[in-house]
Amino acid sequence: MTTLLLGQTLAFTTDPFAIDPEAAVEHHTHGAVLVQDGRIAEVGPADRMRVARPQARVIDHGGHLILPGFVDAHVHYPQTAIIASWGKRLIDWLNTYTFPEEARFRDPAHAEAVAETYLDLALAHGTTAMCSFATIHPESVEAIFGAAARRGIAIWAGKTCMDRNAPDDLRDTAQSAYDDSKRLLARWHGAGRASYVVTPRFSPTSTPDQLSALGALWAEHPDCLMQTHLSEQTDEIAWVQNLFPEARDYLDTYEAHGLLGARGLYGHAIHLTERERDRLAEVGAAVVHCPTSNTFIGSGLFDMALARRMRVGLATDTGGGSSFSMLRTMAAAYEIAQLRGQALHPAQLLWLATEGSARALHAPDIGRLAPGAMADLAVLDLAATPAIAQRHARADTLWEAVFPTIMLGDDRSVAQVYVAGRGMR
Ligand code: GUN
Ligand code: ZN
Repeated sequence: MTTLLLGQTLAFTTDPFAIDPEAAVEHHTHGAVLVQDGRIAEVGPADRMRVARPQARVIDHGGHLILPGFVDAHVHYPQTAIIASWGKRLIDWLNTYTFPEEARFRDPAHAEAVAETYLDLALAHGTTAMCSFATIHPESVEAIFGAAARRGIAIWAGKTCMDRNAPDDLRDTAQSAYDDSKRLLARWHGAGRASYVVTPRFSPTSTPDQLSALGALWAEHPDCLMQTHLSEQTDEIAWVQNLFPEARDYLDTYEAHGLLGARGLYGHAIHLTERERDRLAEVGAAVVHCPTSNTFIGSGLFDMALARRMRVGLATDTGGGSSFSMLRTMAAAYEIAQLRGQALHPAQLLWLATEGSARALHAPDIGRLAPGAMADLAVLDLAATPAIAQRHARADTLWEAVFPTIMLGDDRSVAQVYVAGRGMR
């Protein structure tokens, strides 16, 4: 089956943090994306491609912007129903809202219902791939992988392991975390578009034994990603220092247990020491910026200068984050960078939400509008609401046309979404 999608197209030829951002982009006002067998076969000017492919089925998106679907590099799908919970900072927020909700995932029916809701919301917001924490319950991992497989979505996920400093009904052990993770990995890693991620929640909720067990599992499966949290709030960092008095710093609690590497994803990474920055860059690790979460739970201002030294993904961090929308997330990233004296270019924001996150996940197949990549696409209406439309009407350039949707947009801006070439609306 060959389909030609018509609309504006925007593709990156290189990393817009490495050169002048506008020079990193190839834009066609009247563009086309040729989709064949679920993958992108060609991107170019509509006129030429229509003539070359007279037999192709044509779907005309008019002046809408065709982008790679957004890639959310750090979410907690089990926190879908507690998003926007009031008044707490990280540790109190976990104890008050998160842990009671996560305990409910012992029930597979609850896990399945939330997995379905979460993925429907993600797609409605233009997010076509994500890397999610589950809960300690293997059922919660089955639920999200099953629901993603039914939709054909590329997903990374893992059982969140915790064997201390969590309620009784939310603790596993070093051994059961290893055994359950290994079994889930064997069942799901590489099954269709699923990838298993070794997932210690964060150092405060794992004993050194559990961290070592998960480090061993990761060493046995070096092609897997490992995800966790790092230096999100100052109270958390002080707690880690107490729990691991021998560690040089927070990152060292992971490194000492085999949990630092190029396929490691470290969420938040706000309050890093110079040594931690150097070490993350040296090993080729990725950090994940969760801007709506960092403001919502009051964590701090991520330093986007890291994007010049290491891979940086962008993420909603649902439900510590306050939105399911990667547009809203880009807006928050812009605002945080402004508070640090840097104006991120819209090209850099779009790149972070697509190819940047895909690179953090070591996934060259997604996040790119380029031949060979999967046809996971988001189609944006750049004048979706009256507020955006009146600003868009004044735009003289591509970037002026796009930036109002980044700053003011949400699911109303998403006109269509394709997963492996299949329209989901
Ligand atoms: N640190 C440990 N667990 C979590 C979580 O669920 N959300 C956030 N934002 N930070 C965490
Ligand atoms: Zn998180």
